Formats: sequence, structure tokens, C-alpha cells
Amino acid sequence: PYPLYAELRKTPVALQEDGSYVISTYRELTAILHNPHLSSDFRNLSHPLAMSEGRTTPAFINLDPPEHDRLRRMAMRHFGPPHTPGLVTGLEPALTDTVGSLLDGFADKEQVDIVDEFAYPFPVRVICHLLGVPREDEPRFHRWVDDIVNSIDYNPETDPKEKAENGVRANNELNQYMSGLLEQRHGRPGEDLLARLANDDGPEGRMTDDEIVSTAHLLLIAGHETTVNLITNGMLTLLRHPEVLHRLRNDPGLVVPLVEELLRYEPPVHIIPWRAAYSDITVADTVIPKGARIVLMLASGSRDPQRFHEPDRFDPDRQDNQHLGFGSGIHLCFGGPLARREAQIALTELVRRLNRPRLLTDPPPYRRSPVLRGPIHLHIEQNT
Ligand code: HEM
Repeated sequence: PYPLYAELRKTPVALQEDGSYVISTYRELTAILHNPHLSSDFRNLSHPLAMSEGRTTPAFINLDPPEHDRLRRMAMRHFGPPHTPGLVTGLEPALTDTVGSLLDGFADKEQVDIVDEFAYPFPVRVICHLLGVPREDEPRFHRWVDDIVNSIDYNPETDPKEKAENGVRANNELNQYMSGLLEQRHGRPGEDLLARLANDDGPEGRMTDDEIVSTAHLLLIAGHETTVNLITNGMLTLLRHPEVLHRLRNDPGLVVPLVEELLRYEPPVHIIPWRAAYSDITVADTVIPKGARIVLMLASGSRDPQRFHEPDRFDPDRQDNQHLGFGSGIHLCFGGPLARREAQIALTELVRRLNRPRLLTDPPPYRRSPVLRGPIHLHIEQNT
């Protein structure tokens, strides 16, 4: 039930010793996420990744309007829905095939690790497919994503200098790789996202190469670990609620509200730690001064009893479920439709194909990060 969040919510806007402000209640989080003076620009924050060598354009998740809006719109045009015919709609067969072939590997196994053998490889394969990355290069993406995600974690047990160095190195290698791939796409229109971004002129023109590389990089980082955790948290929650697992097996349509409830109850993104006040911002009668860092406790907002009835209960029949799992406001997750569909297909098929699954370790080992929450491994046992 996350008792720390309940404690934090007693002070909705809390000043910390380091001068940052922590926001933990639903109402205040929603208000600040829609405040035009809330900045996402790394350059206002002196973050090590902001200075990453060879990258002159920050990705749009780290930009403010008007730059953010222009790049988001240009990328969105190809990403659909509702911008159909978009890539996500066309991805449906690839999603089903990928899930099917990963689950074929489970057939004769009594024990499986849902993370290593399924939830981890699935989204990276989808994003590589979307971008047009050849299958044989996928393993390199795993390492880059790991190093980058670790470098933006808050894990107090790891050496921050080493993490930052690894993160910067992985960023540079990934950008270099993407630039090479983009080079091959110029003048060759095609279906993958890089080819579309490189060759299609929209109403706002074309992105520069640097902007395309930043955008591709963003999709990979934002869409990987998060989706892994949604699927893994989902399977864990189902195994802890066997009556819901049973219902899902008999009624696959339940998966749609179930994934929504997961995004509220066990969200992959707990905290957005990198916002800043562009100028003074007033929330809940507190003035957050210009330049202060703002930490958004999204997962706490989604468990706020002032907004959700019995928030600590997992209830896939919940109505009015406007959770903060994908954030809110102008940076609302761009990949929501894809992530939802990936998780819906993954959970439906896991439940359909696993034979009497049982958890081997509860709780499973977790990634030591308060920002991205999910198990590192999820070992389960099944009848063969
Ligand atoms: C933004 C969560 C999957 C691409 C965000 C934000 C959250 C989030 C909380 C807001 C960040 C902020 O306000 O600073 C998630 C979760 C996912 C997921 C929980 C999976 C379950 C994906 C996928 C993609 C993606 C699959 C794309 C392939 C993005 C992008 C942004 C974003 C590009 C930045 C949007 C902007 O700045 O306008 N995501 N995400 N996400 N997400 Fe996701």
C-alpha cells in the first residue's frame, strides 16, 4: 500500500533540504502538470545528460514549447492513432507474432523468468522493428538502454560518477548508431519510422538529422523499460489476484480495463524527477520559486484517496480511472496507445498459454530505483 506515499500526501507540496519541492497529491500534481511555467528543459537543470557530447538537440521530452510542440507534432504524424494510417495500427500483426514466438519458448519449461525470457525482449524488438533496426543489432540496444536507464536512476547504492559516465558513453554510441542508420535512409522512402522522418515533408517541414536522432533515441528509452515493467507488474499482480487471472482467461475483453487499472495500481513510472519552475509557481498556497527543482510523485497521485475510492484495492472494474500512469498535460505519454496494446496482447497470451502458473518468489527482486518500478526477475513455475 505504499505507506511512504500516504505520509507524503499529508504535505502536498513539500520543500526538501536541497531546495527541491516534492508534489504528491492528485489535485496538485494535475494542476502543476498543466501549469505553463513548469519546465522540462534539462538546460534549466544542469543534469549530466544535458551535456552529452555530440547531441545538440535535446529530445522533446526535455524541451518546452514551442520547440517541444513542433517536434512532438512532427513525430506524432507518423505514429498514429488517431493519426491514421499510423505505424501503431500496422504493427498489430508484428506484436502478435513476437508475443507468440517468445511464448513458444515456454512450452516445455517448468520454470520461466517472465522478465528475461519475455517482458524484456518484447518491447525492444517492437521499437527496433518500428525504427527499422536490423534484428541482429538488437542485443546492442539492450546494453545501451540498461546503461542509460541506470544513469538517470536515483539508486543511492551505485557510484553516481560511474553511472553518469556509462550513461553518456551509451548515449553517444546509440546516437552514432542511429546517425549511421539514418544516413542509409536518406533518399529512400520506406515504411519504417526513420525512413518516414527522413523523407516525408509534413506541414511543418522536415526534422533535421539531429532532431530525428534525438527522437528515435527518445522512443527507445521512453518505450522500453516502462513497457517491460507494465507487463511484469501486470503478471505479478494477476498471480497475486488469482480470481482476476481466472476471469481474464475466460473473458479476454477484460484486459482493456485491467491494463488501465495496472497503470494506476502498479505504474512503471513512479516519479518524474526532472522538472523545474520556469518562473514562480503557486500550488496549494505554496510559492515554488523560479529555478527550483520539482519532483512529481505520480504513483502517489494515483493512490490518492481524495481522488480514488479504496485506492489500495486492485479493481479492474473501476470506473472513472483517470490515473497518472502516463503523466498529464503537454508531455502526456506519446506511446500510450502502443504501450497499452503491447501489454494487452502480452497479458492475454501469457494467461492463455501458461499452464497453472505459480509465483516462485514473492516478493520478487526489484530494480533498486524509486523512479521506474518493476521486478528484475519474475520466476514462475507451471505444469508441463
Ligand atoms: C512520456 C510513461 C511507454 C514514448 C511519458 C511520460 C510518462 C510515460 C509518465 C511523461 C513524462 C513527463 O511528463 O516528463 C510511460 C509508460 C509506458 C510508456 C508507463 C509503458 C507502460 C512508451 C512507449 C513509447 C513512449 C512505448 C514510445 C515508443 C514517450 C515519449 C514521451 C513519453 C516520446 C515524451 C512525450 C512528450 O514529451 O511530449 N511516458 N510511457 N512511452 N513517453 Fe511514455
